[in-house]
Amino acid sequence: ISEHQGKNMLSRRSFLWASGGVAAIAALPATAIRAQTAAPELVARVNPVQLLPSGYPETSVWGYGGQAPGAEIRVTQGARIARRFVNQLPQASSVHWHGLRAENAMDGVSGLTQDAVPPGESFDYDLVAEDAGTFWYHSHNRSAEQVARGLYGPLIVDEPTPPDVDRDVTLMLDDWRIDPETGQIEDDFGATHDLSHGGRLGNYISTNGEAAYQLPVKRHERLRLRIVNAANARLFTLGLQGLDGWLMAYDGMPIATPEAIPETFTLGPGQRVDLFVDVIADAGQEALLGRVDQRGGFVQAAFPVSGGASVNRRPAPAPLPPNRAPDLAGLDEAATLRLEMSGGAMGGMRDAIWKGSSRKAGDLMAEGQFWAFNGLVGMTDTPLASLSLGQVARMTVVNDTVFAHAMHLHGMHFRVLAEDGTPGPLRDTLLTMRGETHEIVFAADNPGRWAFHCHMLSHAASGMMTWIEVT
Ligand code: C2O
Ligand code: CU
Repeated sequence: ISEHQGKNMLSRRSFLWASGGVAAIAALPATAIRAQTAAPELVARVNPVQLLPSGYPETSVWGYGGQAPGAEIRVTQGARIARRFVNQLPQASSVHWHGLRAENAMDGVSGLTQDAVPPGESFDYDLVAEDAGTFWYHSHNRSAEQVARGLYGPLIVDEPTPPDVDRDVTLMLDDWRIDPETGQIEDDFGATHDLSHGGRLGNYISTNGEAAYQLPVKRHERLRLRIVNAANARLFTLGLQGLDGWLMAYDGMPIATPEAIPETFTLGPGQRVDLFVDVIADAGQEALLGRVDQRGGFVQAAFPVSGGASVNRRPAPAPLPPNRAPDLAGLDEAATLRLEMSGGAMGGMRDAIWKGSSRKAGDLMAEGQFWAFNGLVGMTDTPLASLSLGQVARMTVVNDTVFAHAMHLHGMHFRVLAEDGTPGPLRDTLLTMRGETHEIVFAADNPGRWAFHCHMLSHAASGMMTWIEVT
């Protein structure tokens, strides 16, 4: 982050302070909430909360436990996550555990792995957290609306031996579209322009549901920052100031060798990153996680620094223990798949969605369907691919549109191949910018019907949703 942007961050910060009522928040509890014995309830309900800074009206969110983000779910690797989902919303819903390589029947995808749970009813989820890492849970029915209304929360799976950090901090980034007069979330989820362009962007950006999230720290403390992009469509380009450290994991999966954190890095919707950072700002200063966009730099989280935790910084961290790597031994004879993304505004929308469909483009567009995968619009009766258990697949993902997309594969993590064919880190969501082509490889090692869709949730609602079958 340049000095200029840093200044913008600070002035943005002053503005927030000036608008009043930004309370300092206490440190997150150092001890994790351990695995539960009986299945606790996860109640989704409508609840008024003070989402906007004080002085503004309350906002009716749809939240797990009535909060947005919902309460942290935290277990140790290998433990069960059992929750009775109780739906007190005015719409049917279901819960997806984003990034967990879990049993298909528990994946929570309405219309694919289960029926949506009607209002007033419940569903028992029971899955095992095979992988340690940073995950999240969210609604998977009408998610373009339900996630935007607040139905998401952090899902943290701890390593059996905790890594050597002083604090473990989850930062869920979101943007909301709120009418500042009424404080209410705009009820415009089917807006044609959002569906056919870059998705539904918000006008109010938060970290853990707060405009001015802050956490007091000490100089030379080491923080583990688990950053989650929970927004419907916004890309977050982030940078650090007064913090220095290492990239440890993408999408919940540790990388083999910790890497220096680049000056800026971008998270697409659904993506996560785990950082270990040391506080290098002096006491009395503020360390910052900032967001950079065309208009400048903005504070996403502030860490006011007090007296030193230690005189010296710690040595570089060891890598996080790896999660089970998928077996890609069959890569040479992999099944070859192709996903061509087309449609949207300024991208031959009509042709794209006309191609594979028996329906008229005009009718599809009237229903808010603007995008296609391989010429097909939305969920189809037959999957994009049928793979046999253990088979390795190699997929060419072509973004033949003028927008970015964040392709999320359920149930299995994939690797993106570098130009020279080297497999990259494990990921569950691929950010693909306009015109890009990527090769991804994965092992079809989890049986079931797995959703594969754009995590820009308006795009998913507008045709960018398919599935892969593993039998
Ligand atoms: Cu995070 Cu199919 O979703
Ligand atoms: Cu998209």
